[in-house]
Amino acid sequence: MILVTGGAGFIGANFVLDWLGSRDDSVVNVDKLTYAGNIENLASLKNDARHIFVQADIGDSQAIARLLAEHQPRAVVNFAAESHVDRSIHGPEDFIQTNVVGTFRILEAVRHYWSALPAPEKEAFRFLHVSTDEVYGSLEPQAPAFAEDHNYEPNSPYSASKAASDHLVRAWHHTYGLPVLTTNCSNNYGPYHFPEKLIPLIIVNALAGKPLPIYGDGMQVRDWLYVGDHCSAIRRVLEAGKVGETYNVGGWNEKANLDIVKTVCALLDEMRPRTDGQSYAHQIAFVQDRPGHDRRYAIDARKIERELGWRPAETFESGIRKTVQWYLEHPQWVANVQSGAYRDWLQKQYAPQEGA
Ligand code: NAD
Ligand code: TYD
Repeated sequence: MILVTGGAGFIGANFVLDWLGSRDDSVVNVDKLTYAGNIENLASLKNDARHIFVQADIGDSQAIARLLAEHQPRAVVNFAAESHVDRSIHGPEDFIQTNVVGTFRILEAVRHYWSALPAPEKEAFRFLHVSTDEVYGSLEPQAPAFAEDHNYEPNSPYSASKAASDHLVRAWHHTYGLPVLTTNCSNNYGPYHFPEKLIPLIIVNALAGKPLPIYGDGMQVRDWLYVGDHCSAIRRVLEAGKVGETYNVGGWNEKANLDIVKTVCALLDEMRPRTDGQSYAHQIAFVQDRPGHDRRYAIDARKIERELGWRPAETFESGIRKTVQWYLEHPQWVANVQSGAYRDWLQKQYAPQEGA
């Protein structure tokens, strides 16, 4: 039995589905179901007794303590977070609450649970914290990729809150001996990605005949990793990672945003051509840049390869094709996500002359 937080979100849901698809032990899935939590992602597990879903906040100490006592997990994997940079710029409070205070509270609940475990279980227990490359800040064009010893230089409210959570995790190991592991991963893409993030937003907008918004000059660089590869890296770190260590996870796929958008357009031109014969690239629209927009992220993933033998299975070409295919095959998922809070958010972010 393991306990996963944030398992109704994009990466967490992929992780839970992959985990239960490849092994026999159960998962307690604790998720607050914010706008980003979508229980429909887990619909295929409806009749699977190995998946126990609990709607709760990681900041609810009593609820987490109760779940730990009841289920006695051998590990906790902490995905739960507010994750969207643009939202953190409009309203940072939730990011501090979940990413900082929430991480602190779950660390405390886990520490109390872990301290009382009998020796063999105590020895084997792990708390794996899922973090991001954004904690390292922005790279100059020719600078070497982020290694694990790179300075923390977060620039957005999101990355600052994740950096704070990483520091808490580190301190709970050094001070209390809690057996922690931390992964810092680059940008993910793949199935169940909420369409406020670049790649799913472009696919969904393209198919709806809407503009494809590119912030600034579109030459910001991200290092893209297929979500299934991120999940396999987390499984590997959980299984063999050295306690107290951090592992950077990336796909060796540095791409400028404009190139990503053009690639998605070309795949859609091939797989679902526009009825007027034009390319989806005609829908590209340059919009106002994100304030404080980090120019470049890149991950040096040599440590996890050298020490744990992990490497991504997908190339960018194979992963992005699978992803576009998935969105074309799941129009109902997209339609359901596009109701309610999601629509309100899109209007707030992209409304013309919006002041923030
Ligand atoms: P997401 O926004 O899709 O999902 C987050 C999930 O956490 C949602 O299901 C939400 O309901 C839940 N949640 C939010 N606040 C909660 C709380 N207080 N208590 C319990 N559950 C709560 O995010 P994601 O893209 O799946 O990211 C998962 C983790 O991976 C995050 O910690 C993120 O920082 C990290 N990460 C993401 C990426 C990426 O490219 N998406 C890259 C590197 C690291
Ligand atoms: P995003 O998916 O929000 O991830 P992150 O900010 O965590 O890297 O954005 C990826 C890149 O795409 C980032 O440089 C911002 C840019 N972007 C756009 O150009 N247009 C958009 O509509 C969005 C959502 C992002």
